[in-house]
Amino acid sequence: MKALVAYASKYGSTKGIAEFIGETLRQRGVDADVKDVDDVKDFGPYGAFVIGSALYMFHWMKEAKQFVSRNRKTLVTHPVWLFSSGPLGKEPKDSKGRDYKEVSGPKELEELRSSVNALDHHVFFGALDGSKLTGMIGLGYKMAMRSKEAREMMPDGDFRDWKEIEAWTGSIVDALVPQRIFQ
Ligand SMILES: Cc1cc2nc3c(=O)[nH]c(=O)nc-3n(C[C@H](O)[C@H](O)[C@H](O)COP(=O)(O)O)c2cc1C
Repeated sequence: MKALVAYASKYGSTKGIAEFIGETLRQRGVDADVKDVDDVKDFGPYGAFVIGSALYMFHWMKEAKQFVSRNRKTLVTHPVWLFSSGPLGKEPKDSKGRDYKEVSGPKELEELRSSVNALDHHVFFGALDGSKLTGMIGLGYKMAMRSKEAREMMPDGDFRDWKEIEAWTGSIVDALVPQRIFQ
């Protein structure tokens, strides 16, 4: 059985998480492909799905939301795990004591989860290089940076926690490998 790790990423850090998950799955005996959601044409080879998106303005990227809704009927008949990458910084909570992972989105999480009966959803910290942002996102970022709260929430840097990502991927392997034995 082969797994597909499908991602939507604007600046590459979510792609990096997806590639790491794919590599970890393969190292632990689960064959896996890693693809941009827009490059997935054939579902035939896959028996399990890990789908992730970068978070922008508390939402998954449009491409990832469309991928899930377009393929809902196929996905719902397979094990599906979801992840989001977004929060930035070294602190788990903001100055008001709110857990970044709980307040960062996606706002459509319940809808996403229930539409494909997802087994789990995990939020990972992401990465940001403000100097590379372009277009509407660059504009949104510049405007947001005027506020102290946004500056606190969006520091530059790479905050991806590879150990956490590895552990989460391990939980996927644990769920998949017994199924494989009985096939
Ligand atoms: C304009 C802007 C809005 C963002 N909005 C959110 C958000 O709502 N929630 C969150 O957790 N992260 C947010 N982030 C942080 C990104 O999700 C983070 O940088 C992520 O790692 C980007 O992934 P990518 O490199 O794959 O595009 C935002 C970043 C920018 C620049």
